[in-house]
Amino acid sequence: MTAKYDSMGINYGELRRPDWRIAGIIESALGSAKTVLNVGAGTGSYEPIDRSLIAVEPSREMIRKRSPGTAKVIQASADSLPFDDGSFDASMAILTIHHWPDKKAGLREMRRVTRGRIVLLTFDPSSRPWLTDYLPELAALDEAQMPTMSDYGRWLGPVQITPVPVPHDCSDGFLYAYWRRPAAYLDAYIRSGSSSFWAIAKAEAGLHNLRRDLETGEWERRYSQLLTLEQYDAGYRLVVAS
Ligand SMILES: C[S@@+](CC[C@H](N)C(=O)[O-])C[C@H]1O[C@@H](n2cnc3c(N)ncnc32)[C@H](O)[C@@H]1O
Repeated sequence: MTAKYDSMGINYGELRRPDWRIAGIIESALGSAKTVLNVGAGTGSYEPIDRSLIAVEPSREMIRKRSPGTAKVIQASADSLPFDDGSFDASMAILTIHHWPDKKAGLREMRRVTRGRIVLLTFDPSSRPWLTDYLPELAALDEAQMPTMSDYGRWLGPVQITPVPVPHDCSDGFLYAYWRRPAAYLDAYIRSGSSSFWAIAKAEAGLHNLRRDLETGEWERRYSQLLTLEQYDAGYRLVVAS
């Protein structure tokens, strides 16, 4: 199995440390489930440790990066889960669905193997966090790869969708995590933590404008209200199907 994440050099250990506040939101969404499937599990971020958990991950490289002691992992793709019907109390898929080649089939598979809740952390592609003012390529990418919010209801039946605000000091360096630390986006190492920056071809012009606006104080004038916030609705959404 060849997987996109085999060739991207994302330093998950340093750049993508799970954020404890987001972990709490996922943990409580899983309710009383005792057995949990984590699809697109990556290196194991957000996997609850007090439940019986099996991880599914297609990338050999991501599997290799899992720390010793993390849950058992099976190399497989979301659209073909190697489990019997109703095998798990709950399942989760965190910041992964946009990478699946067949999203509808992946969610159908999650529904098949899950007796109870399906918990997804994803992004609403109609959101326009401030970084897209500089890099509209990111908004175009999100529109192309992210399911819309109404897709989830069509594919899973009734769902509850709630915003997951991003703390200003979020430890998980996903794309919009640095909303109150704008200079971070000028750092190529920080950018390497997000698959979106690997996917967009041209970021130089937008980053040049961001650097200029940070130097002249224009960024601060334009987005001054952001600097007063502790957390920001960048567009991340928790989707829960019962
Ligand atoms: C941004 S990472 C998220 C990893 C982890 N869930 C987390 O929160 O840190 C996206 C993950 O989705 C995985 N992925 C890509 N295609 C997939 C597929 N078809 N089925 C399941 N997972 C997939 C990637 O290999 C990668 O590990």
